[in-house]
Order: sequence, then C-alpha cells, then structure tokens
Amino acid sequence: MADRLLPRVPEAPVVGVALLPGWLGPAVRVELVERCRAWGEASGGPRVPRMRNGAPMSVAMVGLGWHWYPYRYSRTRDDGDGGPALPFPGWVGDLAKRAVADAVLVEPSVAEDPNGFAPDVALVNWYGPGAKMGMHIDDDELVTAPVVSFSVGATGVFRFGNPEGRGRPWVDIPLESGDVVVFGGPARLAYHGVPRLVPGTDDQAVGVLPGRLNVTVRQTGLAG
Ligand code: SIN
Ligand code: MN
Repeated sequence: MADRLLPRVPEAPVVGVALLPGWLGPAVRVELVERCRAWGEASGGPRVPRMRNGAPMSVAMVGLGWHWYPYRYSRTRDDGDGGPALPFPGWVGDLAKRAVADAVLVEPSVAEDPNGFAPDVALVNWYGPGAKMGMHIDDDELVTAPVVSFSVGATGVFRFGNPEGRGRPWVDIPLESGDVVVFGGPARLAYHGVPRLVPGTDDQAVGVLPGRLNVTVRQTGLAG
C-alpha cells in the first residue's frame, strides 16, 4: 500500500503534533531566508555534519545559541573552526513561542506548559536537491519542551513515526513553504525524518533556490 500522504488540514495529524499550514507569512519567509543566509556566512559557511559512521549528512547546518553536531550541543563549533556559536536571535524565539501558543489551540497535548516554553537554540537546515534526513529522535535536549519547526522553500515530506523505532507506523506530512509544525508531549520523542523533497515545488518568492530551508527551535535545558 502506498504511504499515506495527509491532506493539508489544520487538525492534528498525530497525537502530540500540530500542523499550522502557511503560518509564516510571505514577508517572514523572505526575512528568515535572508537572515539564515547571513548566519551561514557569519559562521564560516553552513557545515555538513558527519554521522557516527563518518558519512556526511545531506543537509548543511548552522546552530544559533548552541552549535549542534552529532549528537550533542556545544557553545563552540567543535567539529568546524572552533569559533563560538552565533547568538540565539530573540525574534526567532518569540516567533516560536507564538507558534506554540497557536499549536496548543489545535492540539493541546503538544505542550504541558505552553507559557513556560523558553527556547534557547535554533538549528537551521538547508536541503538542496536530493537532500534528506533519516529517521531520528530529537533527544539531545534535557527537557521535554516542544520542538517548533519552520519550513520555507520547496515542499519537504515530513515523515512522523512513533517512539518505538524507525519503522512504521508513520504518516507523511507534506510541509509547504510557510508551514509550521510543533511536536511535543506524547510525540516529543517520536522518530521523524524527511525522506524527500517534492520536485517542482520551489518557492520562487523566497530565494531558497533550489531547495528548502528548515529551522527547528528548541529548549535545550542546558545551563550556561
Ligand atoms: C529535523 O528533524 O531536525 C528537521 C525536520 C525538517 O527538516 O522538517
Ligand atoms: Mn529532528
């Protein structure tokens, strides 16, 4: 049977997951792309992290607030030039807090304490043509606050699975330019990934050409 590709509905596709279609307006999309490009340049160029087996990931990344490399956070770019991680931008944190406030209206279980959400890291991922992200859990954070994911550019298929393992059951949620996903609560430690971009969906207006930009905003729970 073909994988289930969900329609673009604002209801929660999975318990603990809220989808906010088109939540990022056109001006914010462009701003995000421009700022991400500048952050990439300011950090010596987006870096391609290497997984445990030494293979390069297919996305290029920049960390704001904290640098992330498989599989930990650091205040310095330990697998790159050793420089300090760029500061976490307050406006990105505010945007993520607003997204959580809206997400709990769609799916209350995404956050036990939405007002307590205190993000301190944003991970910027660039997906060029053919890029993907394998099934993984976001478990380098010490707290269970939700993950907020902003998508701009080409449509990415966001595969959202279960906490037991990388296999089925999963749902495939097409994330279009401007879509926001918030996951938390019972889904916080579920496996997820991006098996592919959908060809022919580049967003001509935002300037990630070709490809997709994804920014996940999280609360690490780490001190200092
Ligand atoms: C991630 O899981 O960190 C990124 C997800 C995405 O690109 O949509
Ligand atoms: Mn993830």
